[in-house]
Parts: sequence; C-alpha cells; structure tokens
Amino acid sequence: MKLIQTVPEMQAEADRRRAEGRRLALVPTMGALHEGHLALVREAHRHADHVTVSIFVNPTQFAPGEDYEQYPRTLAADLEQLERLGFVDVVFAPSPAAMYPGGPARHRTWVTVEGLDEHLCGRFRPGHFRGVTTVVSKLFLACRPHVAVFGRKDAQQFLILRRMVRDLNFGIELIGVPTVREPDGLALSSRNVYLSPSERAQAVVLSRAVSEARRLAETGEQRTEALVEAMRRALAQAPDARVQYAEVVDTETLQPVEKLEPGREALAAVAVFFGQTRLIDNAFFRIPSDVREG
Ligand code: PAF
Repeated sequence: MKLIQTVPEMQAEADRRRAEGRRLALVPTMGALHEGHLALVREAHRHADHVTVSIFVNPTQFAPGEDYEQYPRTLAADLEQLERLGFVDVVFAPSPAAMYPGGPARHRTWVTVEGLDEHLCGRFRPGHFRGVTTVVSKLFLACRPHVAVFGRKDAQQFLILRRMVRDLNFGIELIGVPTVREPDGLALSSRNVYLSPSERAQAVVLSRAVSEARRLAETGEQRTEALVEAMRRALAQAPDARVQYAEVVDTETLQPVEKLEPGREALAAVAVFFGQTRLIDNAFFRIPSDVREG
C-alpha cells in the first residue's frame, strides 16, 4: 500500500495504472475510518482491480462555526486499518496546501449543483455542498477513477454527486453503499464519538424514525405529512434530541413531495442535535406500484 500526498504524484500513479489496463476505484473519505468506511472500501474492491482511498478533511465544506478544527484526524490508525484489509493499493492523503494552494480563501473555481441543496442538510449548512462537489471534482481529477464509492448515509451528498457526474460527463460510475449500523440501529458516523453515554442511548431514535417512515410508505401510505408526523413522534422519544429537520423528498429533485407516487423513489431524512453533536439518518424507499391512486 502506497501513501501519496501530492496531486502530481497521484495523477502519475493513476495514469500508470490506467495504461496497464487496470480498472481504478476511488473511495473519498475524511479519515477517522470506521466499519462504515471499510464497507465502502470492500465494495470498491468488488468493482475494480486498483483501489485508492483518499483521506482529506476538506476545509471548504465546513461552514464557519462548524467542527473543522475539532474533526478527528487519525491518519496513523486509518493507515493501519487500510493496510490490514490487504488489498488497498494507494492512500491519497494530501495536505490542505496540496489541495488548496494559497489557502481555501483564495480558491476561485467552484462546482455547484443548483437547486439540489435547498432542503435537508443544504438548508442549514450554507456552502457545504459547494465544498463537497468542488473537492470531489478535484479528487476525481487527481485520482482519475473509473468507479467511485460513497455511503448512502450521506444521502443528499450522494444524490448531488450523482447529478454532478451526470451533468459534467465525468464518465465515472458512482456506487452508493447502504448505511452500516450498530446492532441497535444507530448509523455509524465519525461524529458518534462525541456522544455522551446517555446521548448515545437516545440516538437510536434516528434510525427508528426513518424506518417507521419507510414502513408506512411501503405499506401504502402516500401522504408524506403522515410520514413526517411519524418521524417526529419517534424522535420525540429522546428527551435531549433537538430536531433540525424531518423531511420526505424526491430522490431526483430533492424537493419535498406532498403525495408519494407509486413506483417513484423517495427519501425520508432526519437531522438531530444532541448537545453540539449533529447526527443524520435516512431511508430510501418506493411505495409499491400496485397502490391505487386516490
Ligand atoms: O463524505 C465525506 O466524508 C466527504 O464529504 C467527502 C465525500 C470525502 C468529501 O470531502
């Protein structure tokens, strides 16, 4: 496993492997790797014969006042975990200066996907998705993958990136891996380490909320109002939870829908604060196509 820290070296490595006829996969991460990330890396290995994992805490996707400085940075432990997998070829871990020479404030070229960030997390994290789409474009251009793997836990991110790849003809296959969960249902997240034992116990309400929304939809409930109410009731079981949003949106437009259309994919998503810690969860679903309109 090779550690690469500059863009030109990464591009040269990718070009060499492409010339050998290898199929390249990229798993972009911000490090602090947990089992959820490792599931992405294993999925990448199933789709390619050269796997790069990038580790970069991207300053431009943190809004002022968010946890950029405190975000866990555990490169040595991350490298050990990836080495142990036995099939990762490259870890691309550039410095902030390698990705944003002159600093993020002097960066002038941005990639934005319009209109898909008006709801869910986008409404509360100004500039976040612009930072994500910009850095992922830069990572794609540095690592030149044929396939890239993302977690569906960050559902809005996945759907925005899917649109970006389509709109800009990146020619990269995007794979969205289902969320990996603790035995009680809590979605794995690098931010779970911030939770106190009591908050950790209460945090199970997020997965209960979105599963309840999916259950209702899959058994034929078409009114999203009913799904949102059910999610809010489930979240209210946690006394310390402050709900930021509970929404149901269409997975293409990321706009809320009033009534679910049979056969069309939708997403139930929640964001909840426990103290300063913000957690998200979601469920993708379709209501059965044999539900009668009315
Ligand atoms: O999901 C993440 O960890 C980040 O948003 C990503 C895709 C690596 C971009 O910085």
